[in-house]
Amino acid sequence: MQDFIIIGHKAVTTGGFSLNDMPGSAGRMDILCRCINSVFFLSHDMRRDVQAHLLLLGEPNSPRLIRFNGDKLRYLNPDERSAGALIKKALELDNISSHETRSTPGVWVREADLCTLLDEFAKDDRKIFYFREDGKDIRDSSEGIKDGVFVLGDHLGLTEDEEQLVLGMSAGTISVGPLSLHADHCIILIHNELDRFIASKIER
Ligand SMILES: C[S@@+](CC[C@H](N)C(=O)[O-])C[C@H]1O[C@@H](n2cnc3c(N)ncnc32)[C@H](O)[C@@H]1O
Repeated sequence: MQDFIIIGHKAVTTGGFSLNDMPGSAGRMDILCRCINSVFFLSHDMRRDVQAHLLLLGEPNSPRLIRFNGDKLRYLNPDERSAGALIKKALELDNISSHETRSTPGVWVREADLCTLLDEFAKDDRKIFYFREDGKDIRDSSEGIKDGVFVLGDHLGLTEDEEQLVLGMSAGTISVGPLSLHADHCIILIHNELDRFIASKIER
């Protein structure tokens, strides 16, 4: 199981946003939707052994944490609006608390921050990796990051405080290459490295 955490610093925390303006008034919700697409979609199939955790930090109800579980996920199509609609439904629930509530099959929402989420993974002895341009080359780390928890930023990266928190709890920083890429593109590259690593083990 791989877990991806993506932080949306401006992503709104109300279900009142418009699917027609996700890059604008919804606070770059489009970035998170594309990350959902990259985490789950194969050609004509979906990855099941993977989760995405979207941390939404925009107005007016920050923080909101939305978990997508590939094994249980339904009603997700490979377009941004489809992911946006599931996020919207999750944020529209009126009883959101620190306990998870299921909004649609495979999607849960709660009020939780980055520290809470990372603590939970650390308690489960999961290895946390921070994806950053200047990290260790993923090609030297494929085996080590299997079943990892991967933290990525949005268009703003991570704040200094978030970086300190993640670095303090992580097993290291990993780079997918020398250039700064979009988070959803990084997710595809991470999957690809792990797919190739797992395939090479099976061939032997
Ligand atoms: C668009 S980038 C963020 C750019 C932002 N201006 C910054 O300086 O952090 C979005 C996220 O993708 C990840 N990322 C981008 N390029 C990467 C690379 N080459 N290796 C690893 N992670 C990368 C990082 O987690 C980053 O926060």
